[in-house]
Amino acid sequence: MSDTTTEADATEGDGPVIDGVPVTLNGRAIVAHQGELIIEAAERNGVYIPRFCYHRRMEPVGMCRMCIVEVDTGAVRRCCPAACSSAPRT
Ligand code: FES
Repeated sequence: MSDTTTEADATEGDGPVIDGVPVTLNGRAIVAHQGELIIEAAERNGVYIPRFCYHRRMEPVGMCRMCIVEVDTGAVRRCCPAACSSAPRT
């Protein structure tokens, strides 16, 4: 028995299992980790979102609204959550 996992082992159904949320960030496809905040996923992928009240060592409070981002869910109305207190959703 092998203790390594291959891509073939991680497949289920039609394709590979993605551990995270697929997101398009400024036109580029990325995967946000489960529970990761938008501001964290963006920063991990080289996009800095301006912030005042967010610090990675503190609980997010979402008070200043400096980090508001546009989220296109495909719905008619686009929504603008605070990136420091919102996680990407499918
Ligand atoms: S940094 Fe203040 S609301 Fe996000």
